[in-house]
Amino acid sequence: MSAEVNPNLPVDRALTEGRVPDRTSEGVPELHEVDCPQELRERIEVLMSRYPDRKSASIPALWAVQERYGWCTPEGIRQAAAVMRVTPGYLESVASFYDLLHTEAVGSHRIEVCTNISCWMRGGDELLEAFKVAAAGEEDFFVTGFECLGACDIAPMASIDQRYYGPLEAAEAGKAIEQLKAGEAVLPQKDLAARPLAGDTARPGGQGDG
Ligand code: FES
Repeated sequence: MSAEVNPNLPVDRALTEGRVPDRTSEGVPELHEVDCPQELRERIEVLMSRYPDRKSASIPALWAVQERYGWCTPEGIRQAAAVMRVTPGYLESVASFYDLLHTEAVGSHRIEVCTNISCWMRGGDELLEAFKVAAAGEEDFFVTGFECLGACDIAPMASIDQRYYGPLEAAEAGKAIEQLKAGEAVLPQKDLAARPLAGDTARPGGQGDG
């Protein structure tokens, strides 16, 4: 059943063709038509409350779907669409635009190797190839090249399960894969989050130690 449109209000672009065409003929699903988990529904509602336009919550809502199901499943998208009162086609068009959102099943371990200029100059292509070789045949691993991840100072680098590591050597790819499979901490010495920060007195090596 489609949501009713009030003719006295401005046209809701999410319900019409608008800038982002709806690639399906499906309208806005009703909440009772989807089996949306309460936790996911509440999370999306909180996200929507942060923006004057609920559609601005599309990306974080899709991220919530991906975190719950491992990828943006068609059913997960329908659930989010019902909560947000937009069409599944609208959310699908958003999900398919962003590389970090997956509209197909991928492994639970995701490795994005930067191959942009700084990383490329320091061996990013070789690093990507090393990860591909190390993860070959492992269904649970998704390895891909990526544009600049904004951590050029640790080039060549990679994002492994959403944590940044670098500078990496191609020879470390196999070790990282083995550590992931064993459930161990990955390359602790290369973990950006573990690096000392200027003025951080809480971490060893921080400026405050001086
Ligand atoms: S070029 Fe690789 S993080 Fe910027």
